[in-house]
Amino acid sequence: MTIDLTGKIALVTGAAGELGRTIALTLARCGADVAVHYHRNKDGAERVREKIAALGRRALTVSADVGDADSVAAMREAIVSGLGAPDIIVNNAVAQYQWTRVLEQPVADYESQFRSCVLQNVLMAKTFVPAMMDRKYGRVIAINTECAMQNFSTQSAYVSGKRGMDGVLRVLAKEVGEHGITVNQVAPGWTISDRDRAARSERQPEYEKLVPLRRRGSDQDIANAVAFLASDLAGFITGVYLPVSGGSVMPGI
Ligand SMILES: NC(=O)c1ccc[n+]([C@@H]2O[C@H](COP(=O)([O-])OP(=O)(O)OC[C@H]3O[C@@H](n4cnc5c(N)ncnc54)[C@H](OP(=O)(O)O)[C@@H]3O)[C@@H](O)[C@H]2O)c1
Repeated sequence: MTIDLTGKIALVTGAAGELGRTIALTLARCGADVAVHYHRNKDGAERVREKIAALGRRALTVSADVGDADSVAAMREAIVSGLGAPDIIVNNAVAQYQWTRVLEQPVADYESQFRSCVLQNVLMAKTFVPAMMDRKYGRVIAINTECAMQNFSTQSAYVSGKRGMDGVLRVLAKEVGEHGITVNQVAPGWTISDRDRAARSERQPEYEKLVPLRRRGSDQDIANAVAFLASDLAGFITGVYLPVSGGSVMPGI
């Protein structure tokens, strides 16, 4: 039994970023053609596109502000004319923010987290789900975070955006399930990516002590969960918030 996404078209937002690039490449390795979305990092997106093309998959790069409806609509036009309508969307992009306490956090950080977390998921659904409904098939996968369950000090802007998107996605799962579309979230822990490999900062003993599996996850661990949720193996799973964090958080039943 393998994960086979041959013939599927995937869109990954923030695909030039730390986790997005591994998610995009992994979906391509599973057989999907991939739209590599970026915001400002055109060169990084082009490097991801080249790697996907080298695997023999079709790929294109496309820029958009995921918090802006016109920009997301223009992205759809570019993808549909270049690759076709996406079967799989991975809402992964997130705006930068400062880690600081509520009383010091600029209001602009709450607004940018609202746009990049909540509105991204609303706009991506409005823009890409109707064509999935026509085809009676679709996969909406959003990247959340363990932080949404931890609610640690200094994380309020991020956590409020991520908890807000959770609400949108759970409702969406109920609204579009009858059309053969699943809607799920992958929630990474503090994850090792190329940035850590370059800085040799993979090991974080204080954090690892809090993780039952006693290690940090990797970008590939996250991409593996996305590939599973994108595949037919996960065809009966929807509305899930799936931590991929070594057990650092455990949603209750
Ligand atoms: N890394 C972790 O340890 C970790 C842990 C838990 C959850 N997560 C989640 O995983 C996802 C990816 O995180 P990451 O660490 O890979 O982040 P990252 O490297 O900062 O990548 C985020 C990407 O989002 C894009 N972006 C930012 N603002 C945007 C906007 N307004 N419109 C469109 N795109 C925008 C950026 O694109 P450009 O670079 O092209 O400008 C960037 O590549 C996020 O949802 C994050 O919350 C990550």
